[in-house]
Amino acid sequence: MPTLVSHPDEVKVLSRRFGQGAANIDKYLELDGYKAVQQAIAEGPAWIIDTMKASGLRGRGGAGFPTGLKWSFVPKNDKAKYVLVNGDESEPGTCKDHVIFREDPHAVIEGTMIAGLAIGSKLGFIYLRGEYRYLLKIVEKAVAEAYERGFLGKNIFGTGVDFDIITQTGAGAYEVGEESALMESLEGKRGVPRIKPPFPAVVGLYGGPTVINNAETIASAPHILLMGGPAYAALGSERNGGTRLFGISGHVERPGVYELPMGYNLKKAIYEVAGGVKGGKKLKAVVPGGSSCPVLLPDELDVGLDFDQMGKAGTMLGSGGIVVLDETVSIVEFALRVISFYQHESCGWCIPCREGTDWIKKTLTRVYEGGGQKKDVANVQYLAENMMGRTFCPLGDAAAMPTLGFVKKFRQEFEDYIDGKKAGTPIITEQLHVG
Ligand code: NAI
Repeated sequence: MPTLVSHPDEVKVLSRRFGQGAANIDKYLELDGYKAVQQAIAEGPAWIIDTMKASGLRGRGGAGFPTGLKWSFVPKNDKAKYVLVNGDESEPGTCKDHVIFREDPHAVIEGTMIAGLAIGSKLGFIYLRGEYRYLLKIVEKAVAEAYERGFLGKNIFGTGVDFDIITQTGAGAYEVGEESALMESLEGKRGVPRIKPPFPAVVGLYGGPTVINNAETIASAPHILLMGGPAYAALGSERNGGTRLFGISGHVERPGVYELPMGYNLKKAIYEVAGGVKGGKKLKAVVPGGSSCPVLLPDELDVGLDFDQMGKAGTMLGSGGIVVLDETVSIVEFALRVISFYQHESCGWCIPCREGTDWIKKTLTRVYEGGGQKKDVANVQYLAENMMGRTFCPLGDAAAMPTLGFVKKFRQEFEDYIDGKKAGTPIITEQLHVG
């Protein structure tokens, strides 16, 4: 999918250095690079946190937790503290963080330093998903350049402040995108989630207070400090400051990653920014924020792309991955592909997730292949409803929520498969792993 696309409605804050060779430190410096961190050193932690709070920035990984507030939760004690950048971008439909790492890795490094200064940490980790190994070279080169210039290491910028960054890749498990599983993985253990609370801000990596943020959240920090919290907030909608990167994929004319203000209308994003449904076909459905979000119908798209408005519309803004499905898509097959992903990626730690995803997958496979029974739709709904809120981490909800959306909004299509009016090509289950 072409990622460096452009549209006049875009507001380029985070993406303003994309396509300009800013992975090179000289270019980054030419484009205001490493100014924000020097200002942060001069102004101190309280100023950084106040600015972040005023910006209204909410976590871009998907949950939308206020970033300034998260940073302010870190206790002011003398324990070793850590900053952890979650670059384990794995949610199907989500394709924004990789563009930041590729086009502007120094923004991630600078953001990590700023978060470190805010909480009194001297060490940050940048964790990339296993499949992003090709980006590791770019990020490692950028980190090395920053060390060479004296921006990282001891006495950074000659200010007496020390800060180091370590890069790490995962091994290809979706589950380690969950923050506590990521910390387990980084500590060299099996990537399964920890019980929360305590939240990482209090007890995180190696037991120390840890700020863990999505890569886009972290990369936003330098821009926010440079432009000021209120100016950044004003770009977005109420209680949803700024802009964010939206990955628009699927059946659209101009797929790609676009930076739009928070609250931008979803319908406009699809029809104007991404050029509408490919080949003039009819729209069937939209998955608005990564595959874990409940699907929206064509008449439900007149909604602002922010955490609150999407919640009111019965779905989620999630990780900003908008997937557009045209009339040719079999929702039964799509639902099966989605649940197959979560079934494959379930860490197996807790029963409702491990068993629930497996039974839903088995039942939907039967329905899709034409052997469905009358009770199957109700059974799928029952299984998904019983997973909701009952799993150890959000993976169970992430599997159940879209499933419920599909069976509730496209019930007739599932029943048509069961009544023998439709049948999909028999599936070799291995083909279904879309991760
Ligand atoms: P969450 O709502 O439990 O937490 C969000 C963040 O706020 C976490 O960092 C958590 O530690 C922090 N937090 C919450 N309450 C706190 C408190 N009282 N004190 C201190 N810190 C607190 O959500 P979670 O489990 O981190 O993420 C779920 C989301 O992840 C979903 O909404 C989904 O959209 C998204 N997701 C994103 C993926 C991606 O590839 N970007 C993949 C899968 C899911």
